[in-house]
Amino acid sequence: MSCSIILGAQWGDEGKGKIVDMYSRQADVVVRYQGGHNAGHTVWVNKEKYVLHLIPSGIIHKDTVNVIGNGVVVELEALIKEIRELTERGIKFGGRFFLSDRAHVIMPYHTLFDKHKEELKGAKKIGTTGRGIGPTYMDKTGRIGIRICDLFDDAVLESKVRGNVEEVNVYAEKIFGLPPVSADDIIADCKRFAAEIKPYVTDTAVLINKYIGEGRKIMLEGAQGTMLDVDFGTYPFVTSSNGTAGGACTGSGVSPRSIGNIAGVMKAYTTRVGSGPFPTELFDGDGELLRKTGDEFGASTGRPRRCGWLDLVAAKYAVMINGLNFIALTKLDVLSCMERIKVCTGYEIDGRVVDTFPAEIDRLERIKPVYKEFPGWKTDISGARSIDDLPENAKNYVDFIKDYLKVPYCVVSVGIDREDTIVLNEIF
Ligand code: GDP
Ligand code: IMO
Ligand code: MG
Repeated sequence: MSCSIILGAQWGDEGKGKIVDMYSRQADVVVRYQGGHNAGHTVWVNKEKYVLHLIPSGIIHKDTVNVIGNGVVVELEALIKEIRELTERGIKFGGRFFLSDRAHVIMPYHTLFDKHKEELKGAKKIGTTGRGIGPTYMDKTGRIGIRICDLFDDAVLESKVRGNVEEVNVYAEKIFGLPPVSADDIIADCKRFAAEIKPYVTDTAVLINKYIGEGRKIMLEGAQGTMLDVDFGTYPFVTSSNGTAGGACTGSGVSPRSIGNIAGVMKAYTTRVGSGPFPTELFDGDGELLRKTGDEFGASTGRPRRCGWLDLVAAKYAVMINGLNFIALTKLDVLSCMERIKVCTGYEIDGRVVDTFPAEIDRLERIKPVYKEFPGWKTDISGARSIDDLPENAKNYVDFIKDYLKVPYCVVSVGIDREDTIVLNEIF
C-alpha cells in the first residue's frame, strides 16, 4: 500500500516533525490532514532549526511534493508568512506545494473569539493556542465556514463574510464588550491574501489520488496527538479536530483502502501543554529535570510543557484507536538524566485498577497511576545507531514498552538531528 500515516500517540509534541522529515527521504508526497497553525513541528538539519506550523514537515526534502489537505484550517497571513520565511531560507514552493480548495479559512473573528472565550472561562480555560482553531471548526460543522475556494468568487466571499460578520458583531458587542469587526476590512484582506496563495490552490484530493494511482509514496502527517483528538482525547481539554488515523482519510480524501502502515510517535516520557487531565504528571524536581533536559517549551507558543512519566495505559489506547503497527519512540536520550525511571502500567480509580482510558473527565482527574520502576542508565546514548549500542538498562526499558504495547518500533530516536536515530523498520 502506498500511503503511510505518521501521527501523535500522546498529547502532541512527540517529535512528529523529526520523524516525518526523516521518513520524507523515501516519500514522494507529504500531506497535512488536520489542525492549523496551532501545531509546531520542529526539524533539525545540519544544526539548522526549522519550525513548521502549517506547511508539512516534508518540505525540507527538495524532491517531495507537500500538500495541505481539506481537513486543515488555514490562517492566510500565517501561511503566507511561513512560505515567505522558508523561501528566504532557500526552500522552493512552485510546483511542489499545494493547498486544498476545500480547506477552511481562519478568519480574524475566529481568533478574536478563541481568545475572549478563553478569558471568560477563567480557571476553566482549555489553554488553547489562541489561534482561532476551535471557532473555525465550529463554523465548519455549523456550515457557515469560509473555504479557500470561496476566496476566488467575489460575490460568494462578500455575501458569506457579511452574513457571518453580522452575527459575529452581536457576540462581539453584547457578550465580549468589544468594538464591532469590519466586514469591509476582512473582505479586502481576504482578496489580497487570496491573490498570493492562488498559484498553490487546487483540488488536492484529486491530486493525491492521481499520485496514488501512479504508485507514488504518500505520507500523511498528523498534528497534535491522540489524547488531544476531539473524539478520543481528554474532552473537553482537546483540540477541535481528529488527529487520529481516521482523520487522515477525511482530512485528505485518501480512502482507508489505500492506507498501509500507521506509525505512532511517542516520547519516552510524557508532556502536555494547556489544561486538562494528565495522570502521570510530575510536580517535583523530576518534572523540572525533564523539562530542562528535554527543552520542553512549546514550539508554537513558547509555553513551558507539563512533564511526566510515560503513560502506557494512554499509549495502549492510542495503539487501538489508530491501529498502530509501528511506534516511533523519541527523546530516549533525555531519560539519560534520570537515576530511576517510572512507567505507568495501570490506573487506580476509586480503589479499582483499570488498564483502559476512561471517558469521564472527573474519573480521569481521580486517577492514581500504578508504576513500574526501572533503573536509569546515566550515559550519553545520542551516538547509538543500533539497539545493541544502547546500555542494558535502556534496552530493558525500550523492550518493556514494546512488549507491553505489542507493537514493534520503526525508529528509536536519540537526539534532535535527522541522523540521531536507530532505524528498525521502513514504513513504505
Ligand atoms: P511535534 O509537534 O510532534 O513535531 O514535536 P515538537 O517539534 O513540538 O517537539 C519535539 C521537540 O523534541 C523538538 O524540539 C525536537 O527537536 C525535539 N526532538 C525530537 N526527537 C528528539 C530526540 O530523540 N531527542 C531529543 N533530545 N530531542 C528530540
Ligand atoms: P503539535 O502538532 C501540543 C493543545 C493546546 C490546548 C489544546 C487546544 O505541535 O503537536 P487549540 O489551540 O488547538 O484549540 O488548543 O490543544 N495543542 C497542542 N499541544 N502540541 C500541539 O501541536 C498542539 N496543538 C494544540 O495547548 O491544550
Ligand atoms: Mg509541536
